[in-house]
Amino acid sequence: MDKMKVIGGRALRGTVRTSGAKNSALKLLFASLLADGKHTFHNVPKLMDVDSSANLLESLGAKVVRNGHTVTVETRPPASFEAHYDLVRKMRASILCLGPLLAKYGQAQVSLPGGCAIGSRPINLHLDGMKAMGAEIELRGGYVHASAKRLKGANILFEFATVGGTENIMMAATLAEGVTVIENAAKEPEIVDLANYLIKMGAKIEGAGTSIIRIEGVEKLKPAEHTVIPDRIEAGTLIIAGAIAGGDVTVTDCVPEHLEALLLKLREAGYGIETSANSVRVRSTGGARCVDVTTAPHPGFPTDLQAQFMALMCVSEGVSVITETVFENRFMHVTELLRLGADVTPKSRVAVVRGRPGGLEGAPVMATDLRASASLVLAGLAARGETVVSRIYHLDRGYENLEQKLSSLGAGIERIVSDSSDDASETP
Ligand code: EPZ
Repeated sequence: MDKMKVIGGRALRGTVRTSGAKNSALKLLFASLLADGKHTFHNVPKLMDVDSSANLLESLGAKVVRNGHTVTVETRPPASFEAHYDLVRKMRASILCLGPLLAKYGQAQVSLPGGCAIGSRPINLHLDGMKAMGAEIELRGGYVHASAKRLKGANILFEFATVGGTENIMMAATLAEGVTVIENAAKEPEIVDLANYLIKMGAKIEGAGTSIIRIEGVEKLKPAEHTVIPDRIEAGTLIIAGAIAGGDVTVTDCVPEHLEALLLKLREAGYGIETSANSVRVRSTGGARCVDVTTAPHPGFPTDLQAQFMALMCVSEGVSVITETVFENRFMHVTELLRLGADVTPKSRVAVVRGRPGGLEGAPVMATDLRASASLVLAGLAARGETVVSRIYHLDRGYENLEQKLSSLGAGIERIVSDSSDDASETP
């Protein structure tokens, strides 16, 4: 299993480009199931999760071809409507094929994703929404068995603004009979991107990006062409890298409005932040302060940047209270940050960070999930000496060439490629 070696203490300087958004690309790929023919997506990041989605689409009869950052998906009616456990357990987002399959073919058997490192992550809100649209749903043998003659429009009020639930129902509703209204819909930029693609396909959708989305079902959709939006979480991670290592970094090809909650907190912490239409420059003016952060659905502070921001707070002046409201178990990085010398006390969903500027020291640490891995790499940039992050396959799920991007800014970072599974016995 590959590892990442980080030599800390080098200021970062220069310009780095943001890749396409993972959490948008995956959903766009699944949306292709809604219309037979050739769908074309540009700016698709090269990531393990994108490969997993391609494998799932291929298992459903599609032909997927990648040419650089362009991916074409040629869909046709599948022979089977099953998303197998082997594919779903590799990537929870596979559940997003349920809405499209059910809407287009009136049936789907999708493996239940199970829990993951950051929480139990149920899909009850997705299933309740589909039931409200007239689907018969049964849970048998670890699978969701869903069927419906034709889905019917419904009013669906989510008790939590679920991203995946909003996307699954929005896709399902495009081909339903009548009007579906989703209330307390998630407002993430990736939902707007998906809606924009569905609209290009001929769907009738209003209100994506607000808490009420109205979808008027149509008889048929057609394939289209689309460019994936920039990855705000990757951009945010690179911005925090610039902040934590000191120096002067400009992250280009991003959408600063998607990053407002982060930029607000960085300004409050004392960083110089400048934005243009599609870039963010972060400059360290020295003596950054700890600030409090509470994660929340968009436009609140993203849970997907909580771990990286915590790394920054570990080396800032003062005390920071970090509250995680989205997932129940998203502090797995804390024990690894402690190994680097951080002073963090987690209790349930709140972590108190006592900043130790210059106080981290390199050590071997282990990645537990995607964003936790990123936070350990960032902490390594600020630590004295060498940090080796193992299990970085988590990182490869969601960051395209992170080590190249950081080293182009002057970071001391290198991938240690290994075929051996010598750390396979480590506790997951
Ligand atoms: C998406 O996950 C993202 N994944 C996550 O990105 C991100 O952290 C999350 O949204 C929140 O922004 C993808 O887009 C592929 P949710 P999703 O449904 O859709 C509870 C990353 O690092 N819930 O908004 O699964 C759930 O347990 C990741 O890239 C229910 O209770 O998130 C969680 O506590 C990880 N029942 C909360 O809602 C449901 O039916 C938010 O989940 C659905 C969700």
